[in-house]
Amino acid sequence: MLRKADNSAVAFVIGALVLFFIGGILTTVVPPLVDASWSKPFENSDPTKGPTGKLKPYTELELQGRAIYVREGCWYCHTQQTRTILADTKRSGWRGVDSPVSTPDEFVYDNPHMFGTKRTGPDLSRVGGKYDEQWHVTHFRNPADLVPGSIMPPFPWIAADPAESKALVAYLQTLGRAKDWRPDGDFEK
Ligand code: HEC
Repeated sequence: MLRKADNSAVAFVIGALVLFFIGGILTTVVPPLVDASWSKPFENSDPTKGPTGKLKPYTELELQGRAIYVREGCWYCHTQQTRTILADTKRSGWRGVDSPVSTPDEFVYDNPHMFGTKRTGPDLSRVGGKYDEQWHVTHFRNPADLVPGSIMPPFPWIAADPAESKALVAYLQTLGRAKDWRPDGDFEK
């Protein structure tokens, strides 16, 4: 049988395809059948689910801010994904509380998503509620004024434009809100 596949191109291709489909079925069809958590309804995207139903569609202002985030390439340096490792949950943690790990339901309104690929700066998936608007605007104007030695480039044109600053901050404050884990209005200074 193996020798036949070795000597015949047709048998080889058919054999390869059969293995390919077995692999495909084992990795994409079987896991959700075996592991029920794959089909668990999204917790946070449904406002009828009570206090955890925190995720709302973006408002017009937040969408404008998101467009600025895309335009300025903030995502070149910042990811938006809290992974299951301590480096992430501790780094984004808040007053001794570890930050929750990212789950798919948080991103249902993101198109395209801003997961990012490279962390030149810290992950931003939990930055919502961490700083107030004034902090962000000062930081856009010149990050090194607030964080000595910061290599984040200044974005003075955003800081100088109140409408743009407001929109971008509104967007940043949405990051992580679906998890409802940080007390509101209790910013770090
Ligand atoms: C060239 C890479 C780079 C780009 C582009 C960049 N940043 Fe940063 N960012 C950093 C670095 C490095 C830090 C860490 C030092 C600091 O806080 O300034 C940082 C920190 C931050 C923080 C504070 C995070 C925290 O948890 O303390 C925020 C918020 C932020 N950036 C937002 C933005 C936004 C919004 C944009 C786009 C307008 C942007 N960044 C573009 C590199 C970058």
